[in-house]
This record gives sequence, structure tokens and C-alpha cells, in this order.
Amino acid sequence: MNTANSSDKKSEKDYSKYFTQVITPPSLKEAKKRGKSEIQYHDDFGIPEEFRGMGEGRKFYIRTYGCQMNEHDTEVMAGIFLALGYEPTDNTEDANVILLNTCAIRENAENKVFGELGHLKSLKMEKPDLLLGVCGCMSQEESVVNKILKTYHHVDMIFGTHNIHRLPHILNEAYMSKEMVVEVWSKEGDVIENLPKERKGQIKAWVNIMYGCDKFCTYCIVPYTRGKERSRRPEEIIQEVRHLAAQGYKEITLLGQNVNAYGKDFEDIQYGLGDLMDEIRKIDIPRVRFTTSHPRDFDDHLIEVLAKGGNLMDHIHLPVQSGSTDILKIMARKYTREQYLELVRKIKAAIPNVSLTTDIIVGYPNETEEQFEETLSLYREVGYETAYTFIYSPREGTPAAKMEDNVPMEVKKERLQRLNNLVNELSAEAMKKYEGQIVEVLVDGESKNNPDVLAGYTTKNKLVNFKGPKSAIGNIVKVKINEAKTWSLNGEMVEENEPAEVK
Ligand code: 5AD
Ligand code: SF4
Repeated sequence: MNTANSSDKKSEKDYSKYFTQVITPPSLKEAKKRGKSEIQYHDDFGIPEEFRGMGEGRKFYIRTYGCQMNEHDTEVMAGIFLALGYEPTDNTEDANVILLNTCAIRENAENKVFGELGHLKSLKMEKPDLLLGVCGCMSQEESVVNKILKTYHHVDMIFGTHNIHRLPHILNEAYMSKEMVVEVWSKEGDVIENLPKERKGQIKAWVNIMYGCDKFCTYCIVPYTRGKERSRRPEEIIQEVRHLAAQGYKEITLLGQNVNAYGKDFEDIQYGLGDLMDEIRKIDIPRVRFTTSHPRDFDDHLIEVLAKGGNLMDHIHLPVQSGSTDILKIMARKYTREQYLELVRKIKAAIPNVSLTTDIIVGYPNETEEQFEETLSLYREVGYETAYTFIYSPREGTPAAKMEDNVPMEVKKERLQRLNNLVNELSAEAMKKYEGQIVEVLVDGESKNNPDVLAGYTTKNKLVNFKGPKSAIGNIVKVKINEAKTWSLNGEMVEENEPAEVK
């Protein structure tokens, strides 16, 4: 925890007197000081006696923005609410507590949250006893906290990503206090093992393997909002996966901001993601995925282990961000176009049918037309099956936000459009190849648009809609694909004993 950090800009009001715990702004200088400070492991989480029953007769609602890490944090917070005696609700109007679990990755993600806070004002007026909280990555930004304190007085509590285990105390304080309760820690470092979790489904589960990121890509806010890299101990992860397998889960996704750095912070053992995957593949759970990878730390041992196949899925999400070595350098990605392509070559050689997907940012400060075209040519060369594409969004406190930028927004938008055209073209081509094939599908449930149709995903994470019995939900079944669309496949379930010809 840090002590008060008042702004040196005289014109800005100092809100620190309102803080119960105080934040420091995302400062590269401060954050880079993280070094090897000690990581503490705790497994002593419990609901204090005086808070038991706090939620009796009350309902909670959590809206989640952003990545899977946030989705999983929401599952932990839901677990804590249930342990306190609250009931869940899907309707904000029925809720006694509303939490917005926020994302700070791009400006439009933040704008959505501010918009929602505006909408919730009238509900708060109608129900003054309603508690409204903001948590997640935006809460770790000083500018956001100041804006909420200044403009959104109907918010009752703000807490960050490092202290969700403090939720019972924060709620208690919010019930007692007339002031906004702000508890945001800049200091991270702890790994808390035994938090309750209320998982969203019974088929697929997320498993955190590490927290934070030390990569400091120049555009990215995550190293500031999620803190330094710290890995969970392998035995804890393996125990959690075994437990999920015993409960009947069919798929797990190992989560981290930069999963390839898993284990780098261990001082007593030499143990990386390859070692972890090699142990997890022996556990009787049908499907194992991981996200997100950083190409720089993707080592040969991991490739060797992934090539063993079995329950390790043949899909790798490998964010490249740009196809230009010069832009990659300014982004501080620490690899060149050639190094990335060499990694792709090794992965394809070891896992011939692998499906690769990626993340790309267009319109980085001063990106030239030629540099952008290098991204297009790399996209074709790798032959990605699909991609998440973004226009660069400056994030306050990051080095890129201070860079001058000569690329007009019109040009950025036009580049995004051109890239998306290519993404669609290659995605449609990749999907077309499935027509007439039989694929294995883990059935999630009814299709969102049509309850008479089932929906699930292939090993390569392609969405399949198909006709089949409801009893197939939660199982892996074979589906013959008869129509390919750009983003999904249509098919029919086939007999168990027909061999799958997975492309
Ligand atoms: N602007 C645009 N996109 C960003 N991403 C991360 N930070 C930014 C930013 N400032 C993208 C990257 C990352 C994905 C999760 O979000 O492509 O891989
Ligand atoms: Fe952000 Fe990913 Fe780079 Fe970490 S590795 S700084 S999370 S883009």
C-alpha cells in the first residue's frame, strides 16, 4: 500500500483525503522499480465472523467488461458474494449491489463504463440504498478515480485488481460510510489461493496460472493495472485442474497476461509453461487451452510439449501486433518480423495442422503506409485463421501516449478496414475447408439465435451450429459440416463411430 500521492498540478483538486487506501498513478518509473520484491502466497482467506450473513435478503449483479481475466475475477467476486449470503440476479433493477468490473485497455472500453455509470444514476436516485461499485483495471488509474470522485458522486465504492479478496471489508465500509469508499492498492505481489469461485458454467473453466505483466509494451496499460508478473505454484494449479476434471469439466483455459513468462519468477525451481503443460496433459480432462502468449517467451520446450497433442488443443493465439520490425521496436515487443516468422515456422513444423490467430494494432504513432503493408503481408504469410484488430488508442501514463503522431484518424480507420477485409477473406477461406468434413465439437448449449440448434466449438475454437439432441450438451460429439460462413460453421451431428477428419 502506498501513502498519499497528491498531484503536482496546482489546478487539480487533491482528492486523496477521501481515500481509505491511496493509489499512485500508473508511472513507468515507479512500475519499473518492481524488481524482485517478495511474492507472498496466502491460503487463509475466510469470511470474518462479523460479516457472515451480510448479504441475507440482498442481491448482487456484476457486469464484466474486457478480457477472460476479468471474467474470471468476476467468478471470484461472485463466490465471495455467495459466501456472504447474497443471491445473484441478472437484473440491475433487482440488485442491492451493482459492480462494474472494468477494462482499461482502450479508450472506448472506458467510455462504455462511463456511459453505464451515467445510466445507473437514475436507478441510484430511485433506490438510495443501492450500492454501486467500480472495480477492475480502470480503478487502478488515478485519472479514472479522480474523474469518478469529481463527476460520478453516485458511486459508492472503487477498488482495484489487487484487493478483490477485500470485498467483504469494502462492502461493510460502504454500508457504514457516507463517503465514497476508495481502496486501490498500487503494490501487488501477493497470490491468494483459496478464494471462493462461482464458475459461470459446468463445461468450461478458467484457471489462472499467473498474474500481471512485466513486458511493458509501450502502448499497454496492463503492466500498470495488473502489476508485476507472479506465478501460481504448479502444485496449486495442478490440484485445481484435477479438481475440475473430477467435477466433470470438459475444457480448461490457462490464463495469464503473458502465459509464456509462467515460472520466470520462481527462485527455487526451474519450471516453465512447457513443464506445466506437460503435466496437465496427463490429467483426464479432454481439452486444454492457454491464453495469451507472447512470442518472445514462446520456447522450444513448449512447442515440443504442444506437439504431443492429446488434450492440448491445436490452436495457438499468438499476438503479433505489427508486421513491421521498426514498429515492433517502437512497441518494445522485443522481436523482429523475421523472428516472429521463424517461431511460426517452428510451430507449424511441429504441429502441422495448427490454427494460428493473432492480435494486431493499426495506426501506431507515425506508422507509414509501407509499415502497414508489412502487417498485411505478414498476415498472408502466416495464414492466420482470424484476428482481433484494433486502432491504437493512447493510454495515459504509457510511453506511447507521449509520442507525437502524424497519422490522421481517417487513415487509421481506412487501414483497419483494409486489414479487416483481409482478415475476413482468410477467415472465410479457412472455414470453407471444413465443408464436408467431420469435426469434434464440445457442445456448449443451445445456439444464441435459435434454441432448436445446438452450438459448440471445435478443437481449433471454431463455432459450430448444428442439429442434435439436447442430451449432447456438455459432451464432445462429431458433427458433419455442410455449410461454412465467415465466422461459424453449420452442420449435423453424426454417429459416434464415424471417424473425425479434423482439418
Ligand atoms: N491500443 C490499441 N490496442 C491495444 N491493445 C493493447 N493495448 C492497446 C492500445 N493501447 C491490444 C493488443 C493486445 C490486445 C489485448 O489489445 O493487440 O494484444
Ligand atoms: Fe500488454 Fe501483453 Fe505487452 Fe504485457 S505482453 S504489456 S499485457 S500487450
